[in-house]
Amino acid sequence: MRRKSNMWIRSGVAVFVVFFVWLQLNFLSYSGSADTADLNESATIFSMVPSVLHKFLTPRPRNVSNINGSATNATYRTSLNITEIKKFIAQCNLQQTIYNEDLFGPLQNDSVIIIVQVHDRITYLRHLIVSLAQAQDISQALLIFSHDIFDEEINSLVQSIDFCKVMQVFYPFSIQTHPNEFPGEDPNDCSRNLKRDEALVQKCNNAPYPDLYGHYREAKFTQTKHHWWWKANRVFNQLEVTRNHTGLVVFLEEDHFVAQDFIHVLKLMDNTCKTSCPQCNILSLGTYLKTFSYYADSKKKELLRAIKQQATVNVMQPSWTFQVLPSLYQHTQKVEITPWISSKHNMGMAFNRTTWNLIRNCSEFFCKYDDYNWDWSLQHVSQYCLKQRLHAMVIRGPRVFHIGECGVHHKKNNCESTGVISKVQKVLKSAKNHLFPSYLTLTYVTPLKKTKIRKGNGGWGDRRDHMLCIGMTAR
Ligand SMILES: *[C@@H]1O[C@H](CO)[C@@H](O)[C@H](O)[C@H]1NC(C)=O
Ligand SMILES: *[C@@H]1O[C@H](CO)[C@@H](O)[C@H](O)[C@H]1NC(C)=O
Ligand SMILES: *[C@@H]1O[C@H](CO)[C@@H](O)[C@H](O)[C@H]1NC(C)=O
Ligand SMILES: *[C@@H]1O[C@H](CO)[C@@H](O)[C@H](O)[C@H]1NC(C)=O
Ligand SMILES: *[C@@H]1O[C@H](CO)[C@@H](O)[C@H](O)[C@H]1NC(C)=O
Ligand SMILES: *[C@@H]1O[C@H](CO)[C@@H](O)[C@H](O)[C@H]1NC(C)=O
Ligand SMILES: *[C@@H]1O[C@H](CO)[C@@H](O)[C@H](O)[C@H]1NC(C)=O
Ligand SMILES: *[C@@H]1O[C@H](CO)[C@@H](O)[C@H](O)[C@H]1NC(C)=O
Repeated sequence: MRRKSNMWIRSGVAVFVVFFVWLQLNFLSYSGSADTADLNESATIFSMVPSVLHKFLTPRPRNVSNINGSATNATYRTSLNITEIKKFIAQCNLQQTIYNEDLFGPLQNDSVIIIVQVHDRITYLRHLIVSLAQAQDISQALLIFSHDIFDEEINSLVQSIDFCKVMQVFYPFSIQTHPNEFPGEDPNDCSRNLKRDEALVQKCNNAPYPDLYGHYREAKFTQTKHHWWWKANRVFNQLEVTRNHTGLVVFLEEDHFVAQDFIHVLKLMDNTCKTSCPQCNILSLGTYLKTFSYYADSKKKELLRAIKQQATVNVMQPSWTFQVLPSLYQHTQKVEITPWISSKHNMGMAFNRTTWNLIRNCSEFFCKYDDYNWDWSLQHVSQYCLKQRLHAMVIRGPRVFHIGECGVHHKKNNCESTGVISKVQKVLKSAKNHLFPSYLTLTYVTPLKKTKIRKGNGGWGDRRDHMLCIGMTAR
């Protein structure tokens, strides 16, 4: 997770952690065997994945002659220069090629569309693809990958998918394609910690617009929210193939992992909404089982960074164990009806065009809110723009898991660790008999406290960001 947080979130996290420790103490018989079994992680994982899918986990041998032929950029896995990448992206976004349409037929207006936001963490993406490959009914879905990095290995991985229709879209305002200009970092931009008075004297680009904590924009922290808003606009309003689509769009990220029955559960939830919950307009398939906040306010940011470096192992290794999960699946059938809360219900979200039109109409609230987190911005929309707040139906036994141990901006040595992945697979295996439920039971959850959010987390004070974001909705 990559977000700033504040006191109530952190105390929420603490309660959460305590809760899980309590669960573990009460329900688990401690045995070291699970951990020893993980010693050879890759062997464990391969043994859990059908052999026909091993190809998605195996990097292709690099084409040496290619690399020698043209200078491969060490920063990004590509041999193209920026001009060429921009050209490719423009073409690709124009052509809107759908792979495998010949095999799986055209998109129906009620088919499930899955859109995955992809940065550069290919190891996680491989596992997400393996999980999608095993999902029932995936062959009728359209799987869209939305990239903010042009990466030849990722492209060839995505294009090797053979179990459903696939499409790639490329976020055109990326830092990769704008390394020295906005939305990337312009050499004339004010540096993050510059005081406003000094900035005004220096006349750096964005001098009048620090965020509400007095900091100037950091390009890499703005990209995720821009990308999220762009891809939502793209999928609902700018693709030819979705023009008549009225079904659900599921929002995933590269470090998610889905259960085999996630589409089944999604449809069941959708039907349950229609009969029993007219106010529900967002479905949520995930639950955070471990929550770790990377960013608090600016000072804590620094501190956390230091802590993380010293105690990487403690922070990165899940302190809970997935063995606790099967207990959730004994009540698989349970769903909660609750006001949508950004920090709890932002994973494995799905909604249709009706909901999107409400959100889209609030683009100013989303784009001008001084918070670089897309989900907090959406919560702002929900509370201050919509006539009725977003309402979620949330499945208690998660069907979407977060396997990324490290956030987008936190590349550490053991980020490629696959420990969580094998744990998720073990959970799903032991919960097998409880997957594919035939009905759901509803629980209504009223939040204890009023969850009015205070001021935003900052990082989004720059007018250029507001305009770029709003421009994505304009057409
Ligand atoms: C782990 O398993 C793989 C595949 O079976 C094998 O190639 C590798 O040598 C093993 N590694 C260790 C450290 O045992
Ligand atoms: C490597 O790249 C060259 C030139 O693009 C191509 O001719 C050759 O077939 C490639 N080899 C492999 C193993 O992909
Ligand atoms: C690689 O890409 C980065 C960012 O676009 C650029 O700054 C750098 O000069 C490139 N390096 C090479 C060798 O092309
Ligand atoms: C990028 O590559 C193209 C074709 O290889 C070349 O014509 C162009 O000059 C290159 N641009 C830059 C900025 O290096
Ligand atoms: C979906 O398409 C079918 C025919 O292909 C049509 O009968 C139906 O009305 C459409 N549904 C919506 C909601 O547009
Ligand atoms: C959408 O519906 C219109 C009118 O029914 C039809 O002409 C068009 O071909 C449809 N487009 C797609 C992509 O299905
Ligand atoms: C879209 O979702 C809304 C709830 O937000 C629901 O009322 C509506 O029936 C859904 N539309 C379709 C075509 O399923
Ligand atoms: C769109 O949002 C505005 C506020 O920005 C609100 O006044 C208006 O009622 C909304 N329209 C619809 C159709 O929801």
